[in-house]
Amino acid sequence: MVSEGKSTAEKLGNSVVSDENSTAEKLGTSVVSDENSTAENPDTLVISDEKSTAEKPFKRRIKMDNKRPDSMERINDTAKAMKFIDEQVAEIKKTVGDGKVLLALSGGVDSSVVAALLIKAIGKQLVCVHVNHGLLRKGEPEQVIDVFRRQLDANLVYVDATDRFLNKLAGVSDPEKKRKIIGSEFIDVFAEEAKKQEGIKFLAQGTIYPDILESDGVKAHHNVGGLPEELDFELVEPVKFLYKDEVRVVGKALGLPDNMVYRQPFPGPGLGVRCTGAITRDRLEAVRESDAILREEFAAAGLEGKVWQYFTVVPPITSTGIKDGKRTDDWIVVIRAVNSVDATSATIEPIPYELLGKIVNRIITEVKGVSRVAYDLSPKPVATIEWE
Ligand code: XMP
Repeated sequence: MVSEGKSTAEKLGNSVVSDENSTAEKLGTSVVSDENSTAENPDTLVISDEKSTAEKPFKRRIKMDNKRPDSMERINDTAKAMKFIDEQVAEIKKTVGDGKVLLALSGGVDSSVVAALLIKAIGKQLVCVHVNHGLLRKGEPEQVIDVFRRQLDANLVYVDATDRFLNKLAGVSDPEKKRKIIGSEFIDVFAEEAKKQEGIKFLAQGTIYPDILESDGVKAHHNVGGLPEELDFELVEPVKFLYKDEVRVVGKALGLPDNMVYRQPFPGPGLGVRCTGAITRDRLEAVRESDAILREEFAAAGLEGKVWQYFTVVPPITSTGIKDGKRTDDWIVVIRAVNSVDATSATIEPIPYELLGKIVNRIITEVKGVSRVAYDLSPKPVATIEWE
């Protein structure tokens, strides 16, 4: 499925973006531009959504007739997924020919499935760019490299832009400013990589059907920024008519690992929203390490895939502790584990005390600069799921 919206790709600039799981992470604001709508292109809206992903950082030109065909069967088993894959592979080959396609690959399910489809169709004509903004979870960049470069033999450009992002974010405590910095820096890094590539004609995106449905008919101010004008790509959006559950079935059929296909929602600004206030490297490390412990223990306890979303937060406040007989002033790790259907509301997962105790013990002994752990019992509403 290829839409001809060429993307002068006005971008979000103020939107950052991660599209991991579910429509959940895209529930926030949609920044929609009507730049090319009505008069010139009556059938096209240019849309970007704030809570989308690193792999969807660009406004999508969504055709008003972007309607999932009524005849399209729900893809709920491997056979249907294989049929879809064959059809898309043929269509991508036809559209792309011997051209080159660029894709921002975050490692989230949508961009990963799109990457795997394109690799199957056109192999190394696809150039995947994985930007590590330094706010990813422990092991994520490594997994993207392992799956796509090593296992799928993809043409993958890995950019470690950690210093660049963290330097820009230094001292910035306002959540919106942080998001804007991450969003616009992401676009800059991606555009720089795009310019280094020769002969790119297409930009692939992991747009899924809820993105189209959620943005339908909405208009907002245009000109929120985008890829430089000279990067004038045609969009390739092979999963744009799929719902999230179908994307996962297709991902499974393409052989992607379960922890990529069934990943929990993860915000585009990544751990940046969980290292509240001005991000410091030590506190960010405390978020990353405590999150890794939480995920490891949830997996060991069989809760992976059963609890909708779980993570840790480290706010910029300290509390007193005692280590080696000396008073310390350490960070506080907060555990959050919620159940939800669509992220508009959330209930608290009752974690067994024994498991909580084990997690707390590991965090206070293994994570540097932490001596206290708290468990957030606040449902949504009134509290939001993320702290920022
Ligand atoms: P809140 O905190 O608003 O979050 O209750 C609802 C869901 O959205 C996810 N979330 C985001 N996802 N970019 C995203 O892609 C973001 O900036 C963002 N902020 C929140 C959050 O993890 C939860 O699942």
